[in-house]
Amino acid sequence: MSLTAIIGGTGLTRLTHLQVHRRESPATPYGAPSSELTFGRLAGRDFVFLARHGDPHTIPPHKINYRANLWALKQAGAEAIIAAAAVGGIRPDLAPGRLAIPHQIIDYTWGRAGTFFEEGLDHVTHIDFTTPYSENLRQKLIASARAAGLSVVDGGVYGCTQGPRLETAAEIARMEHDGCDLVGMTGMPEAALARELELPYAACAIVANWAAGKNEGEITLAEIERHLARGMADFVALLTRFAESS
Ligand code: HPA
Repeated sequence: MSLTAIIGGTGLTRLTHLQVHRRESPATPYGAPSSELTFGRLAGRDFVFLARHGDPHTIPPHKINYRANLWALKQAGAEAIIAAAAVGGIRPDLAPGRLAIPHQIIDYTWGRAGTFFEEGLDHVTHIDFTTPYSENLRQKLIASARAAGLSVVDGGVYGCTQGPRLETAAEIARMEHDGCDLVGMTGMPEAALARELELPYAACAIVANWAAGKNEGEITLAEIERHLARGMADFVALLTRFAESS
């Protein structure tokens, strides 16, 4: 049976609903992945789980070894990747607590190791990235969320910032002008590396807070954690439905 990888983000360091079969700590040509890989079953389907920020949650977004993570999942036999991503909401309907399945990305990060295609090449490779997320997997996630009785937003442009600090209000205004609906710190180069490895990839964004300047006052960690706790429970419900239906 096919193996689906889950990359857990902030608020999802462990997938406690997984019936665990084994754990592995693979080596890759790029070093060690963020966490061990946890293999198990959920609702009759095989999954492999990786904690993007490590377990415990200690690796900030710009220090994540994205290449090792993606390589390890490919090597483990994953055939598709579902990423959970905590985000700030920019568009008025993307309020804290909402789920969205983004359809596009704008990359504002810098200095991250973002390609497998840079050494020992016999030719230069440019992947097509017109549609950064797998449309097929996106539709499955949307259908699974709706079947689980969850309200989900179909689409959205995910702007990926460098972090680890949150943005200024002016930066968010610029991103909004650029067309961003959501802001997070980990979507890139993760999505591009998945494409380089020909792994279908889609993300479930969980809105943790209003993006900077979209609400009065400061963004607090307590607010983020409160919304993420509920959002991640919704994500697990979506995943269970996904497992049951595919
Ligand atoms: N900005 C960037 N990344 C985030 C945010 C945010 O407001 N909230 C959760 N991840």
